[in-house]
Amino acid sequence: MDLMDAIDVRCSRRKYVKESIEDNKVVHLKNLIEKVNKEGDLNLQLILDDGRAFQSLKKSYGFSGVENYIGLVGKNDKLLREKIGYYGEKIVLEATRMGLGTCWVGGTFDKDACTCDIKTGESLIGVIAIGNVKKNSSIKEKLISNLIHRKTKTVEQMYESKEEVPAWFKDGMKAVQKAPSAINKQPVKFKFENGIVSARVNGDNEYEEIDLGIAKLHFQTGAKGGKWQWGNGAEFIK
Ligand SMILES: Cc1cc2nc3c(=O)[nH]c(=O)nc-3n(C[C@H](O)[C@H](O)[C@H](O)COP(=O)(O)O)c2cc1C
Repeated sequence: MDLMDAIDVRCSRRKYVKESIEDNKVVHLKNLIEKVNKEGDLNLQLILDDGRAFQSLKKSYGFSGVENYIGLVGKNDKLLREKIGYYGEKIVLEATRMGLGTCWVGGTFDKDACTCDIKTGESLIGVIAIGNVKKNSSIKEKLISNLIHRKTKTVEQMYESKEEVPAWFKDGMKAVQKAPSAINKQPVKFKFENGIVSARVNGDNEYEEIDLGIAKLHFQTGAKGGKWQWGNGAEFIK
């Protein structure tokens, strides 16, 4: 499975089976986390076999069997949320390639029960639940997913341009369409103007900058290369 396949098959999974993640996958995840932490100056952490953050029924509504998660920790900085989105989604797609289930979790977990190591000047922005799942979604998972899922926006609703856009831009937008976003709002608006791509969010809620980082990674993957500048409204160099 390549990254494009991972984008196609990924969907949020909320019911996990009680089977530890296999050792070879743990090693792969840890190496990737170390790499993105270096690249993004983050402190993401893999917490294994500890489901306490998902034990409170009230706080972790909709989830069951979560025993592992990635703590999304980093230094307080105005780009922190966007970087967490970009690098966190890199891990999500890699986990999908390995056949693991994932779900971004911004709200429905017990923050106080998280055992992440959070240093002075750092924050825990959220977690990504990760682990083994049954091949097909359970009925409850489907119900929750239907509850949250609004109809997916069309690609045309997600960008503006006064000119004809190239095929690589359309491919990038198709990958953005499949990106996870908080309550499936798909809030990131792309622009193609004089051959230059940019992406921005209104910043209406605390999750939008995470969604921005996630959407940027999907765009870059779909467009098969190119590099983003960091920041809301920043540009993409193909
Ligand atoms: C930043 C962020 C925060 C999220 N927080 C939660 C959450 O607290 N609880 C939850 O059940 N799902 C959460 N989700 C998952 C979204 O609901 C899900 O990505 C969206 O409905 C699209 O569905 P899909 O991921 O299956 O494509 C979050 C997603 C993102 C990107």
